[in-house]
Amino acid sequence: MGVASQLTLLLAAASSLHSVAAVPQTSPASHPASAFSRRAVSNAPNGYTPTEVDCPERRPRIRDGSRLSDQERDWVQMRRNETIPHIRRLLGRLAIPGFDSDHYLRNVEDDATALPNIGLAISGGGYRAMLNGAGAVAAWDSRSDGSETDGNLGGLLQSSTYLSGLSGGGWLVGSLFVNNWTSVQDHLRSGNLWQTQDSLLEGPEQVSLRQYYSEVSGSVSDKDDAGFERSITDYWGRMLSYQLINADEGGPGVTFSSIANDEEFRNGRTPLPFIIANGRDPGEEIISVNSTVFEFSPWELGSSDPTLHAYVPLQWVGSAFDGGELPDDARCVAGFDNAGFVMGTSSSLFNAIVLYLQDPESPFVPEGVPGFLIDALVNVLDVFGDSNNDIADWTPNPFRNYNDSNNLSGDHERLTLVDGGEDLQNVPYHPHLLIERQVDVVFSIDSSADTETSWPNGASAIATYERSLESISEGTGFPVVPGRDTFLNLGLNTRPVFFGCNTTNVTEPAPLIVYIPNYPYVYTSNISTLSVSVSEGERDAMVQNGWAVATMHNATRDENWPVCVGCAMLHHSFERTNTTVPNACRSCFQEYCWDGTLDESEPAPYVPEVFGTLIEVEDAAPAVVASAAVAMIVSAAVGMALII
Ligand SMILES: *[C@@H]1O[C@H](CO)[C@@H](O)[C@H](O)[C@H]1NC(C)=O
Ligand SMILES: *[C@@H]1O[C@H](CO)[C@@H](O)[C@H](O)[C@H]1NC(C)=O
Ligand SMILES: *[C@@H]1O[C@H](CO)[C@@H](O)[C@H](O)[C@H]1NC(C)=O
Ligand SMILES: *[C@@H]1O[C@H](CO)[C@@H](O)[C@H](O)[C@H]1NC(C)=O
Ligand SMILES: *[C@@H]1O[C@H](CO)[C@@H](O)[C@H](O)[C@H]1NC(C)=O
Ligand SMILES: *[C@@H]1O[C@H](CO)[C@@H](O)[C@H](O)[C@H]1NC(C)=O
Ligand SMILES: *[C@@H]1O[C@H](CO)[C@@H](O)[C@H](O)[C@H]1NC(C)=O
Ligand SMILES: *[C@@H]1O[C@H](CO)[C@@H](O)[C@H](O)[C@H]1NC(C)=O
Ligand SMILES: *[C@@H]1O[C@H](CO)[C@@H](O)[C@H](O)[C@H]1NC(C)=O
Ligand SMILES: *[C@@H]1O[C@H](CO)[C@@H](O)[C@H](O)[C@H]1NC(C)=O
Repeated sequence: MGVASQLTLLLAAASSLHSVAAVPQTSPASHPASAFSRRAVSNAPNGYTPTEVDCPERRPRIRDGSRLSDQERDWVQMRRNETIPHIRRLLGRLAIPGFDSDHYLRNVEDDATALPNIGLAISGGGYRAMLNGAGAVAAWDSRSDGSETDGNLGGLLQSSTYLSGLSGGGWLVGSLFVNNWTSVQDHLRSGNLWQTQDSLLEGPEQVSLRQYYSEVSGSVSDKDDAGFERSITDYWGRMLSYQLINADEGGPGVTFSSIANDEEFRNGRTPLPFIIANGRDPGEEIISVNSTVFEFSPWELGSSDPTLHAYVPLQWVGSAFDGGELPDDARCVAGFDNAGFVMGTSSSLFNAIVLYLQDPESPFVPEGVPGFLIDALVNVLDVFGDSNNDIADWTPNPFRNYNDSNNLSGDHERLTLVDGGEDLQNVPYHPHLLIERQVDVVFSIDSSADTETSWPNGASAIATYERSLESISEGTGFPVVPGRDTFLNLGLNTRPVFFGCNTTNVTEPAPLIVYIPNYPYVYTSNISTLSVSVSEGERDAMVQNGWAVATMHNATRDENWPVCVGCAMLHHSFERTNTTVPNACRSCFQEYCWDGTLDESEPAPYVPEVFGTLIEVEDAAPAVVASAAVAMIVSAAVGMALII
């Protein structure tokens, strides 16, 4: 069957899957006037198409990544200042017995020694991770209803310096920032964002299937016509944007770097967001713990790892950097760093999905999608696979000839990035581990699907620990964690655990890791990573469960949990200031610190016991447990159809 006829079939099949194909395209509800404005703005010169513009007076260049940028160092001083009233208020409310937090923090404006430096990390795992993470972020957000009542943890978000997200966690972090730091609860109430019941495969209810695909593929074709490499991640990122970005057509001109110009962010009134991806060369199939970890911030893209040690100003990615500079005759390129493309890059699970789709035994073959469609998809996939387009293409490589002794710069013409979880470090700890950042504690939500029942078993933290033993981890520190069997046998994946309590037992300074695994409290939130839609009721139940995960069910599972969160915030601070640890915190550390015990015997299959009362979800229609791949491929195919 020729490609063209396959495509016709694809279109037909896709149309038949669409429930509301007949909604007029001009429906006024299509993109309601924003209930809240965007933080990132549409400042790309030409929509989705990267375009040449005049360079600023100080021509952009690559910077040495072995230290933090001046921008970050200046910003962090402001940010840490901004966190002070929130930390005071939160610790005051948590009221660690026998400890006067106001007295303890009395001088921190002048001397930050006692002031905790807090990071938050949200793992990957598709909508499961985004929604579970959203519940935790809502619980930590003092703006959320009820977040400051007894047993709750509102204010931790406002107390944090850094917030990292990866893949599905990157969707969460990215959309909070792109949508003007609007709270999770307001996102859910908005009625036009996070409409997860509308399949990624089909687009928003108000947009016809044909319009959806033609908008998505049109913008990607324009990028291609402008001479930039296209990858499936372009389609994927454009599709995600309709869910995540509050703008017409998912904001083809909204850049991630525009967050840096935002008033609130610039003045340190939000944490610093990071979105994580991995470097992977075309043709490489597997990436190990030796992978280079890339971080996107509003300012930069790059890696502090010794395999790169370099950063490019994000706004100017796409320009023809050579040897760290822009040649005199080169103009600057802007608009490459589309916010959806950044989020799509971090979540380009694509390669892994290919293997599932091609495997006839695959548990991920989407329900409700005809077999012939799958066959056609796999064929189209091959077209991309052969030319190694199954990655996020950030070509031209900004790091070309920057430092020939480093692998990722060198003479590579292309820079290709993949899903941040492909190296198994599915919790984005990396940015918090840079010793220079001096992070004291990382509260981390792990929504990985590691066990056969799709719950986490510590594998992500283990991958980061294993990587910390390799030379590539230079300049970072991570505490010792046990293996998976111990995690399961000791139940370390059933409740929060602290790692790195004994700071004399680490080779490099490391933050205290507060590991908070996904667990069923009020909903069995272990849905498939590859879900492309989640009904509204299920979405809300997942968010509520995420809230319960972070708060231990509003402290009903352990009434001391809020105090212990306060103690975790202050663990490193107590050491720095030689403060006698309050007895209440000693008890917390005894309860929550992993004490080095191992149990490597064969664990039983993992079936967690539900803690609370399960929410009944009435509209839990059989979720389209399908694949993002299908969405990507159909879209890619349609994109090709328009070209061929
Ligand atoms: C973003 O939200 C803030 C409140 O946090 C508000 O003051 C501001 O006007 C909003 N920005 C825009 C562009 O709407
Ligand atoms: C931090 O706050 C103090 C007192 O409120 C102020 O004097 C100082 O200038 C602030 N520092 C920064 C970097 O904003
Ligand atoms: C936990 O507290 C929040 C905020 O007060 C409330 O909305 C929620 O229903 C509580 N959850 C449970 C399971 O009690
Ligand atoms: C990582 O790389 C180092 C040398 O560069 C090598 O010795 C080590 O075995 C690698 N580790 C893994 C897990 O591939
Ligand atoms: C290039 O990389 C080498 C090896 O990592 C390093 O020693 C050197 O300082 C780097 N040079 C620059 C300009 O970053
Ligand atoms: C660079 O690549 C070469 C060849 O692929 C490999 O042997 C070497 O270990 C790599 N170096 C680093 C620092 O990753
Ligand atoms: C979710 O977990 C339950 C057990 O807690 C299990 O029965 C179910 O199969 C799991 N669902 C998925 C999608 O793995
Ligand atoms: C902490 O680690 C050090 C060095 O490994 C060890 O000597 C000490 O006993 C440990 N302390 C506790 C409380 O486990
Ligand atoms: C903390 O106490 C130790 C000995 O008890 C002392 O050596 C050190 O200088 C003290 N540090 C601070 C910051 O007071
Ligand atoms: C202390 O470090 C050793 C290795 O240096 C490790 O085996 C042990 O598990 C660590 N204990 C803790 C509690 O981190």
